[in-house]
Amino acid sequence: MPIRILPSNLVNQIAAGEVIERPSSVMKELVENALDAGAGRIEVTLENGGKTLIAVSDDGKGMSRDELALAVERHATSKLPDDDLFNIQFLGFRGEALPSIASVSRLCIESRAAGSNEGWQISVSGGQKGEILPSAIQNGTRIEVRDLFFTTPARLKFLKADNFETAQCVDILQRIAMANPMVSFYLYGDGKKKLGLNACQGELFDCRQQRLADIMGSEFTENSVEIAAENEFCTISGRVGLPTYHKANSLS
Ligand SMILES: Nc1ncnc2c1ncn2[C@@H]1O[C@H](COP(=O)(O)OP(=O)(O)OP(=O)(O)O)[C@@H](O)[C@H]1O
Ligand SMILES: [Mg+2]
Repeated sequence: MPIRILPSNLVNQIAAGEVIERPSSVMKELVENALDAGAGRIEVTLENGGKTLIAVSDDGKGMSRDELALAVERHATSKLPDDDLFNIQFLGFRGEALPSIASVSRLCIESRAAGSNEGWQISVSGGQKGEILPSAIQNGTRIEVRDLFFTTPARLKFLKADNFETAQCVDILQRIAMANPMVSFYLYGDGKKKLGLNACQGELFDCRQQRLADIMGSEFTENSVEIAAENEFCTISGRVGLPTYHKANSLS
């Protein structure tokens, strides 16, 4: 068979194979985009563990009509303004997440750019891009991902029970929330509230403490110590649990 350039939808599906393993990986990409957009409130809605619906709404800076059309294209990103891979200021930068997700699901994005008086929406189903249409969205961005893996049934078979997939999403959202105490996070699964974390107010140090207590329980503060370390490449700060502090789970 001669060498050929693969069709772009197949390229997107291959890229999706690398990062999109299950509903929680989709949710993580969408929540990271919301944080990169400066959101103060992020709400996740799941149906059937995210197999039939994963929706993420944010109150971030939104996208204009032109940006919306570009956002679903491969290698399109607003996050590398100086083309400098050694100076990355955002959680994403590859410009791959949305086209990858859109190649294995039915994606719909509604968005209104901050300060604009009009909202827009675009749908992409199995990689097929639809028209840009007006949307009634009031602010920020709402992204819906339906029927994940409907184009790749082999992947669909590897998904586990709805409860397991929902629990994976809650776990990932809690981890993201620990690092972002100034942002509110909510997660609903099949109409039930699974996570509700209000934004913490005040000094960053107190906010971190509060958010950790909200997630790990109030006794975590007394049973952990602060850590702060720095070298020429990175800075680490946070709290680590004491060896004597542990909780039983189904394995212990
Ligand atoms: N919730 C959002 N609010 C505002 N803009 C968004 C949002 N989600 C995506 N975008 C825009 O769409 C672009 C493409 O998003 P996508 O996740 O595909 O790529 P990325 O975040 O730039 O990089 P990566 O593939 O590493 O996540 C982003 O660079 C951003 O400009
Ligand atoms: Mg992204």
